[in-house]
Amino acid sequence: MASLPLPRSTLSVLVLGSTSLVGSHFVGSRAGQGIVAAGRRDPRDHGLRVERYLSADLSALGEIEEVLKKCDGASVVNFAARTDVDGCEKERPLTRESLLPEPERRNAWRINAELPGHLARMCAERGVYLIHISTDFVFNGESGPYAETALPDPYGAKVSWYGYTKGQGERAVLSLAPKDSAILRISYPYRAKFAFKTDFARSMLDRAREGTLYPLYIDQMFTPTWIPDVTRVVEALLRTRATGVFHVASPHPTTPVAFGLALLSQARLPTHDLKTTRLSDVRDPERAPRPLRGGLLVDRVRALGVEPLVFEEGIRRLLDGVE
Ligand SMILES: NC(=O)c1ccc[n+]([C@@H]2O[C@H](COP(=O)([O-])OP(=O)(O)OC[C@H]3O[C@@H](n4cnc5c(N)ncnc54)[C@H](OP(=O)(O)O)[C@@H]3O)[C@@H](O)[C@H]2O)c1
Repeated sequence: MASLPLPRSTLSVLVLGSTSLVGSHFVGSRAGQGIVAAGRRDPRDHGLRVERYLSADLSALGEIEEVLKKCDGASVVNFAARTDVDGCEKERPLTRESLLPEPERRNAWRINAELPGHLARMCAERGVYLIHISTDFVFNGESGPYAETALPDPYGAKVSWYGYTKGQGERAVLSLAPKDSAILRISYPYRAKFAFKTDFARSMLDRAREGTLYPLYIDQMFTPTWIPDVTRVVEALLRTRATGVFHVASPHPTTPVAFGLALLSQARLPTHDLKTTRLSDVRDPERAPRPLRGGLLVDRVRALGVEPLVFEEGIRRLLDGVE
């Protein structure tokens, strides 16, 4: 952390969460051009090129401030999050009265709720543009797919702790940096290749090839997001500095079983022994709630000139290995 500020001329985008499933695609698409990455793991160890890497634990306010100071002038894209939904659930406050978990159980809170707020405040003070990545898990899944104007759920048992903390992060960004920020919500992101973390689509495909595919939900509605579309929207937002909430996801809502059938058929794998189950029948107290009628409507990104891929086309590209 003890290094000199970067010269302004080299600065373009500060990426938090460059090693993530989603953020690594954006970083890779730029071949390192104008990218400063900050985080605990060095993206170059993931084969990604960046102009500079700053080692930082972004759950610590002092480290976030240091990073922002060194990158003054660069737009910020925040992909960093604690994304293990069932792991986050274990950090839900133990008492109903408190909205804040005990200090030793605040990992999700710090990175999903507090970090976006700190970023928003610092970006607004500097006139720096911030893009914050979020999720349809901020909604309880009673009436999806959701429009950009829909409001995240308040605290309660219907939404996962992960979703609630992400909703609080969104709220902080929108209230602290309304003129300098965009929230970009995505839903079940998937891509053709990323060696360091799988996604629901590649996991389905791998399990089907091994003959170990789990039963797929017939009653869950979702709108999977083709990750290269996230990169396209982030680039469009950086160009336009558009503000407010945006969604990117398949314009065709689907169910896991319909997605699985399309994936297996296109991959020429057998579908006759595909098993199904119902999300609404899951009764596992260890498991965080998932939106039943979830997903995102994508009207606003079209005004940025981006038409998101329908999931059938995303599957084709996944199988072709084309990102
Ligand atoms: N995956 C999904 O299904 C999904 C669905 C909807 C929305 N999203 C959203 O999309 C974004 C990216 O998700 P993802 O699944 O691609 O993420 P991911 O692969 O789980 O990666 C998480 C990222 O967060 C960084 N991070 C976490 N804690 C950190 C800390 N204390 N200090 C520094 N960096 C930290 C990690 O960096 P290090 O490697 O340096 O630790 C890593 O780059 C998130 O905002 C997520 O909420 C994801």
